[in-house]
Amino acid sequence: MRYRIYCYKELPSTNTEARRLAEEGVGQGTVIVARKQTAGRGRRGRTWASGENAGIWFSLVLKPDIPAERASTLTLVAALAVARAISRVTGLEPLIKWPNDIVLDGRKVCGILTELSAEANSVKHIVVGIGINVRSQEFSEEFAGHATSLTAEGAKSFLQGALLMAVLEEFEDCYGRYLKTLDLELLLTEYNDCLVNRDRPVKVLDPAGAYLGIARGVNRRGELLVEREDGVVPVSSGEVSVRGIYGYV
Ligand code: BTN
Repeated sequence: MRYRIYCYKELPSTNTEARRLAEEGVGQGTVIVARKQTAGRGRRGRTWASGENAGIWFSLVLKPDIPAERASTLTLVAALAVARAISRVTGLEPLIKWPNDIVLDGRKVCGILTELSAEANSVKHIVVGIGINVRSQEFSEEFAGHATSLTAEGAKSFLQGALLMAVLEEFEDCYGRYLKTLDLELLLTEYNDCLVNRDRPVKVLDPAGAYLGIARGVNRRGELLVEREDGVVPVSSGEVSVRGIYGYV
């Protein structure tokens, strides 16, 4: 994939700008980076604190030829790419909290917001927005109790640009593997090896009623397999979120 990278001093949200440009017809591989976001967005309508140079805030435009229902798995693909890149560039060993938070020492260091635009069940474009806390000390209220930064976790010194390039390189590899099968088959072992909740008790916050179980890893569709007394339930992201029974992980 050929990346075209546009750097801004300040934007309300790189996702919003990427989506606007995608509507205007920019190609797959367009990357929008901002040093600062004034209205950074998280999942479920949360805000994402994105101070000047406190982290890497960027969005990537994708135009895969896939049915819309396959698109949410791309978030897991992006999470794996970020985990690999952080490990390569900083020497730290990040894990993934399903589906797509990157954690260090049980705290969130990166969030991913994937936004889909579809027409009649086929994908028009997907914007994958990635926020990596590099040296942030202030976090949005919703994340404050369980957020951290690469610097706070003892990353060796690195250039932010080098980490961005590493994420894009790793994403290219992971995305290529994803496109071969349109699922996680070729990434499954690696993803599950990174899963912070694996074989741990979790609480599934299902709008239809919360329940407890043991997380056993994800399947090819990216669903989290949660073992309950009555059997194993595949949990899909979206409405449902998963917590550790004692807190965030
Ligand atoms: C989450 O964990 O809730 C997702 C956070 C995603 C934040 C990134 S920062 C770059 C991109 N632009 C946004 O407005 N949000 C994403």
